[in-house]
Amino acid sequence: MCGIFGIVSNQKSINIGKIALESIRRLEYRGYDSCGILSQYNSKLFVKKDAGKIDDIHKKLKLDEFPNGSKLALAHTRWATHGSPTKINSHPHLDCEDKIAVIHNGIIENFIELKKELLSKGHFFKSETDTEIIPHLIEENMKTNKNLKEAVANAIKKCKGAYGLAICHADYPDTIIVVRRESPLIVGIEEGKTTYCASDIPAFLPYTRNCYILEDNEMAILKAGTAEFYDINDCDNPKQKEIQLIKWSIDAAEKGGYEHFMLKEIYEEPSALRRTLKIPNDSLNKFAEIILSAERIYITAAGTSFYAALAGKFIITKFLGKYIEAIECSEFKTQLINSLEENSIIIAISQSGETIDLIEAVRWAKEYRPSAKIISITNIVGSTLTRHSDNIIITQAGPEIGVAATKTYVTQVLTFALIALEIAKLTKNESQEEIQKYYNALYSTPEIIEKFFEKNVELIKYIVRNLEKNLNFFFLARGISIATAKEGGLKLKEVACRFVEGYSAAHAKHGPISLIREGYPIIFIAPPDETYERLIGNLMEFKSRGGTIISLVVEDDDKITNLSDTTIRIPQPGDKYHNLFSPITFIPALQLLAYYAALEHNLDPDKPLNLAKTVTVH
Ligand code: AGP
Repeated sequence: MCGIFGIVSNQKSINIGKIALESIRRLEYRGYDSCGILSQYNSKLFVKKDAGKIDDIHKKLKLDEFPNGSKLALAHTRWATHGSPTKINSHPHLDCEDKIAVIHNGIIENFIELKKELLSKGHFFKSETDTEIIPHLIEENMKTNKNLKEAVANAIKKCKGAYGLAICHADYPDTIIVVRRESPLIVGIEEGKTTYCASDIPAFLPYTRNCYILEDNEMAILKAGTAEFYDINDCDNPKQKEIQLIKWSIDAAEKGGYEHFMLKEIYEEPSALRRTLKIPNDSLNKFAEIILSAERIYITAAGTSFYAALAGKFIITKFLGKYIEAIECSEFKTQLINSLEENSIIIAISQSGETIDLIEAVRWAKEYRPSAKIISITNIVGSTLTRHSDNIIITQAGPEIGVAATKTYVTQVLTFALIALEIAKLTKNESQEEIQKYYNALYSTPEIIEKFFEKNVELIKYIVRNLEKNLNFFFLARGISIATAKEGGLKLKEVACRFVEGYSAAHAKHGPISLIREGYPIIFIAPPDETYERLIGNLMEFKSRGGTIISLVVEDDDKITNLSDTTIRIPQPGDKYHNLFSPITFIPALQLLAYYAALEHNLDPDKPLNLAKTVTVH
């Protein structure tokens, strides 16, 4: 989610600031709300950091200018998770004496307890971040043990969560220590001269192609041109690691070896879901309480976020037993100008938190009904939406660069599902055992998607090749899967420039069915939920008129499979628990279909025609 970079060299003429600045520019796609660079010289740490884009901060602070002769630097580009994007919250973070500096990519889950403990021992904190506890923990350990390596290891062993860390100490002029758990960390080496570390390969690719990839719980001591590796639990015995030669171009490396950001981000869905599954219970619980206390509840959003809202509305109402209205944000004021009631709850959902129609809708609601509460789900800490909200939940998708929203959609639906299960716990309308089964189904979503990727990509490419000449499509479904039909259809429109009617399968016979001719492609989204039997009826209406039927079904489906020309099987059970979360597990198939259709038509899926990632005009 953040980008980290470090360099330690023995080269006389090296310009450490310039290299650090260029390197975090190459990592800016990992996070871009604030940045910082530190260099070490003469037992002192020199820090320049601020909130904003790297180039703007560079104009103000001259990020490449550090004392001549400095041979060590750390640099960070931030994607805020704990603490808004401000100068104080930017990395690096230092201990009380300004001797120990840390840059971090990840989340320290137990930072509140650790901070309390450190405060009681007299440490003082400047930021709201989870990261800042780390330099203080190391400082605390060094009071009894002057060995930096051991102090770092002991400090890190107290931390729960995910981290890629680079650490330096003012009194150790030639050493960077790196540690990794769950967040990526790579060490690059120019033998005998310079050593680099980074959360992603492009950062140091212009300087070296030789690298070591750290595994979970590994630590490395980096000195100029050398690296020593250890297990965090055994700091006395160095480990042997195999050097790897990177053959990618910088552009390919930024995309993690994938051809496009869209594909990379689709493949990141399992990890984005796993992070989102860790959203702290208290914020989910707060949302659940607010929703339960409300008379009138609205969800509002645009585009993909609106389709996540449609799925979310369905999942929440199942446990809430109250009506929720989902309204596109551009229509919010027009539709509610005569009816928005006092004390309404408005759930605003947005990847960017900057969509102008959404911001206007929530601003209007607050002005018109000051007693209304805005609770928001967004991917961006500190975005405009968060400033207009009474409560916020941050989805944990990480930066999404592709214009077409993919991984952010699944994390939005998952967030709704987590809130829904908190509501179920509070209402007690379902037994504990039943709720646990829904949780189990939710926890299995990352694995289902991973299994899907393993087996189905060639089938999707085959379907795309067969449909190459078709310009128009129907994506049809019933119940909760209408959200999947609409979102899948939106993807194909956006990136492959094909027209798709994402529609209710039942409603389609009230007009749209008149379009059907021999070979007209129709994709049915068909998990075996309470709508399944009726969907078969709808499918037959389209099949008997010559439609080519492609169906998305669960692994052991037979009825719809037998009626379809092609089926895409999602490797999940067809029970009611998994069916409820099928908007998460079924959508990757349609995202991949759109992606490969774009390639088939020589379109760049990362740069769809006429679209911007964030729509800030009416
Ligand atoms: C999604 O693929 C689109 N690029 C677009 O519909 C997007 O979802 C919409 O503009 C809303 O953006 P937001 O989630 O940042 O508010």
